[in-house]
Amino acid sequence: MQFKGTLYLPGDKSISHRAIMLSSIANGKSIIRNLNDGDDLQSTISVLKACGAKINRINKTIEVEGVDLISPNKELDCGNSGTTTRLVSGLLSSQGLNFTLIGDDSLSSRPMKRIIIPLQKMGCNISSSNNVLPLSIDAKKGTYPIDYKVPVASAQVKSCILLAALGADKPSTIQEDILTRNHTEIMLSTMGASVSVQDKIITINPLNSKLSPIDITIPSDPSSAAFFAALAVLNDDSELTLNNVLLNKTRIGFMEVLKKMNCHLSIDNKQLNNGEEVGDITFSTSTIHSTEIESKIVPAIIDEIPILAVVAAYSNGVTIFRNVEELKYKECDRLHAIIHNLNAFGINAYEKENSLFVHGGKPDKLAEIATFHDHRIAMAFTILSLTSFGKYHLDNKDCIDISLPNFFNLIKRVAK
Ligand code: S3P
Repeated sequence: MQFKGTLYLPGDKSISHRAIMLSSIANGKSIIRNLNDGDDLQSTISVLKACGAKINRINKTIEVEGVDLISPNKELDCGNSGTTTRLVSGLLSSQGLNFTLIGDDSLSSRPMKRIIIPLQKMGCNISSSNNVLPLSIDAKKGTYPIDYKVPVASAQVKSCILLAALGADKPSTIQEDILTRNHTEIMLSTMGASVSVQDKIITINPLNSKLSPIDITIPSDPSSAAFFAALAVLNDDSELTLNNVLLNKTRIGFMEVLKKMNCHLSIDNKQLNNGEEVGDITFSTSTIHSTEIESKIVPAIIDEIPILAVVAAYSNGVTIFRNVEELKYKECDRLHAIIHNLNAFGINAYEKENSLFVHGGKPDKLAEIATFHDHRIAMAFTILSLTSFGKYHLDNKDCIDISLPNFFNLIKRVAK
């Protein structure tokens, strides 16, 4: 099959969550266009509405009227969304609220100790069994400032602490070893908070007045773009342009990896949008080379490893993804899910000491995709199936709605 044309993808999921959350506590009306249309965003919206947020859709635009959030009178259902859970924990704590978070089976097995420890240090009273959801957080006494080195490379943990620190009475500092996605820092400073970053140490001051409202068109999601990038590079006579994609360096590690794999890509029309770089990216048919991916780039490709592993399956050698343990704690154990599916399609792939090894070749067995109810596993292996066999069988299509409900229509639009 050939894939040709231009696509405008829905808004970045990470920035969409932050835009809804921060505008909910801002001073006045925020306007948000191209919000991510997946189920995770619906979780954030319904959780915040249960705390009194005023969020309305007017045609394709979301209007958020900032309010003083209140403690909810029911459990807050975060669905499948780790970002909702961890960021809302910080945000609602900063507002001195008392709340309980629940989620679906996948979310209820994901680690929460990483936010429980810093939030307890900040004075929150937290109860949970085994450090997983349900999580009850009582922050009625407000939050204390903190100086904290984040022990895992996680933007969700960093953002939880940054948001909680807005409610303290003195500045807090947060240190990370490897820079993770920094949209919270960028959006907070665009909306008037005092945040500064020096040598991987972020200093955040409490809010002494409300955030200013924001008017934003959310850039297209590079994590969604990565699937179409793979479609273009893996298929003959193909070329896809993706417009207005977020180009934040902490997010486009997959483009660096694709370049190392000899993929053809070019960027045009670079611009700044509310502190974030955006641009149009064109990907075209390429001969894939194997490569070694060092651990320091892993945070910048964390959500793209499933599709990069698929690209690696078409290379001329062994591709190694070093130290990808964090994959085990995503919507499913993605390390297991990637290996399981690659093996099912006839590709030799395995884990050794938390690194992923993919022996390139050609997928030669058409298998049913085992999604493990994970949107990114479903999309990555749909691309592999389409590329090698022109068709796909998924054990669950619906999970794709988490981040990109229009996935199959977008593919149809560019299939020639
Ligand atoms: C996200 C951070 C990452 C990423 C997730 C979205 C965010 O999670 O995998 O899809 O919006 O902050 P971790 O912080 O757990 O690595």
